[in-house]
Amino acid sequence: MSKAQRHERLLIIDFGSQVTQLIARRLRELNVYCEIHPYQAVTDAFLEAFDPKAVIFSGGPDSVVRDGSPRPPASVFNRGVPILGICYGQQVMMQELGGRVEGGKISGGGGTAEFGRAYVTPEGSLELLEGWFADGDEQVWMSHGDHVAALAPGFEVFGTSPNAPYAITADTGRRFYAVQFHPEVHHTPKGAKLYENFVRMAGFSGDWTMGAYREEAIAKIRAQVGDKKVICGLSGGVDSSVAAVLIHEAIGDQLTCVFVDHGLLRQGEAEEVVGMFRDNYNIPLIHADESELFLGALEGQSDPETKRKTIGKLFIDVFQKYANQIDGAEYLAQGTLYPDVIESVSFSGGPSVTIKSHHNVGGLPEKMGLKLVEPLRELFKDEVRALGRELGLPQSFIGRHPFPGPGLAIRCPGEITRAKLDILRLADAVYIDQIRKHGLYDEIWQAFVAILPVRTVGVMGDGRTYDYACALRAVTSVDGMTADYYPFSHEFLGETATRIINEVPGINRVTYDITSKPPGTIEWE
Ligand code: XMP
Repeated sequence: MSKAQRHERLLIIDFGSQVTQLIARRLRELNVYCEIHPYQAVTDAFLEAFDPKAVIFSGGPDSVVRDGSPRPPASVFNRGVPILGICYGQQVMMQELGGRVEGGKISGGGGTAEFGRAYVTPEGSLELLEGWFADGDEQVWMSHGDHVAALAPGFEVFGTSPNAPYAITADTGRRFYAVQFHPEVHHTPKGAKLYENFVRMAGFSGDWTMGAYREEAIAKIRAQVGDKKVICGLSGGVDSSVAAVLIHEAIGDQLTCVFVDHGLLRQGEAEEVVGMFRDNYNIPLIHADESELFLGALEGQSDPETKRKTIGKLFIDVFQKYANQIDGAEYLAQGTLYPDVIESVSFSGGPSVTIKSHHNVGGLPEKMGLKLVEPLRELFKDEVRALGRELGLPQSFIGRHPFPGPGLAIRCPGEITRAKLDILRLADAVYIDQIRKHGLYDEIWQAFVAILPVRTVGVMGDGRTYDYACALRAVTSVDGMTADYYPFSHEFLGETATRIINEVPGINRVTYDITSKPPGTIEWE
């Protein structure tokens, strides 16, 4: 695409902050297209090709007073575009433009570190802060060890906090802005307004809409795939479904979807997914019922990682078997999202410890010699949902809670048996029905039942029971990385426990899991 045809673009140079992705979120909410790139990748040539209309320097964990710490390319300051520096981004901007930064407690200097809530007092007025300070000082979120000790020439102070005399600084002539706090986080309540002002001042028209994205994505898919065939593994989740519908809109019957039923799905799930794709979209779909294969292989296994690996391996085998039946398939469609893309290029390296080996169809493309089609690579989860709505997928489908690849296997701690799975399915259906009836489904990120590997004694009627205990789980989260338990009322919990015990033979005790993540995880295995 030529420079003239594409969206106005904002570049975020990543210096390794934990919250860089949130900057992108705030900007996308303003209909501004932006990309995050690690500082090492941002060379002069890159800048020239990217041609940003504005640049943001993220925060980062390093100290600019340390030799060899991250720097932006010097040419970024000569492009004549507005720049906003955040935290480390502020410090690096000062240092590069002739100011001075002092190390704080963390980097060994004597300055004042500042973590958490702080209040900024204005000095003079700055367009970037339009809408701020109407009711006095503004709350912001600080997280810095070092601090700016002398401003670069041309800069002035526009806000101070008790521990950051240079909390807000700007060289308005060059349109360089630099703040010590993090406007992208929730705890800087007016932060979104600051970004809104910044992009308005930079001249963005807000041309990043889902309607435009849909048209462009369709054109790109057609150009990439030509008349070749594409296969897409459907999980029933939002990402793969939206990817499939979008690709189908682009290339019609050149797309075939494969839905692998491993026998570990929720009640009615296979019918729902297959029905939606066949009836509403008329998308060629292979419904691979391989439950016997999966459940047979899982028999006697109780270790969580062994279960995951068994399912992951079989999934690839089965997918490959069905994909081989599609003559001339050259592409594999995946619902990779932008956070996955960023994660894999993050300069600070990937995850250090494997807590759980989440699986997807990784490894398949090389093994099968397929090329990838990833039309959601530029989107965040909420944008995928917006695209789904744009494509006309029913809200009931788009709003579904995430469901893990290994399915009910990891909600059945210990050994999996068909009998336990049947009990679990029924209990889960009652629980979800309760949540829907009480109008809580959309407030909850994920809710499910886990059947516990323990039987307990109860009394029903006049008789003794000796049945399974189960745990209800419901969490709020934005991305599944951290989560808190959902604060159901006691009435809701009591009513739900009664219903499950009355309606689900095999369960005589119901508990509610109130562990947050961390230290717990969302799933039980
Ligand atoms: P945890 O349990 O790690 O879950 O806190 C975070 C999110 O990931 C989902 N999850 C998985 N998804 N394969 C998947 O595709 C897996 O093996 C897997 N394990 C957990 C989980 O449902 C939650 O949304």
